[in-house]
Amino acid sequence: MRPVLIIAMVLAAALGLAACGFGEEMISVSDKDPNHEGAVLFATHCSGCHTLSAAGTQGSGNRGERTQGPNLNQRVESYDDALYAIQNGGFSGAIMPQNIVVGEEAKAVAKFVAKYAGSEAEESPRPGQENP
Ligand code: HEC
Repeated sequence: MRPVLIIAMVLAAALGLAACGFGEEMISVSDKDPNHEGAVLFATHCSGCHTLSAAGTQGSGNRGERTQGPNLNQRVESYDDALYAIQNGGFSGAIMPQNIVVGEEAKAVAKFVAKYAGSEAEESPRPGQENP
């Protein structure tokens, strides 16, 4: 094989990898969906502490950790509650940082959370289910 061809192949592989942005590959919301931006913001800003399947996030996977936020698959959130939580740092204001996202971004995340949170809310959580 000629060297030029090998270089072209390596380049193509590198580009392919770069195309899937970090933390975004698990998002199940289509990029044509108006909530896609909110999903991306959630995956990049909230994923460390909250599980939410639509954004492909798993929290820290350790419920014993003090910073671990509620699993949002199991909570139904209204738009107002989600926005309140973002602006005030959860409902207690103790652990979750305030204003991780602000303005239009905060609204986009709140809309996304209101629509996609609570997908497992009917199921009662079983012991052992939290830690895969
Ligand atoms: C450092 C960890 C951390 C980060 C980052 C974080 N949260 Fe939280 N979040 C928490 C904790 C802990 C709670 C529960 C305590 C409380 O309500 O004060 C919480 C509570 C919430 C609640 C209320 C849930 C309920 O029903 O009680 C919502 C909604 C929420 N977070 C959304 C978000 C969104 C959206 C982001 C990203 C912009 C985010 N969180 C980022 C830790 C975090």
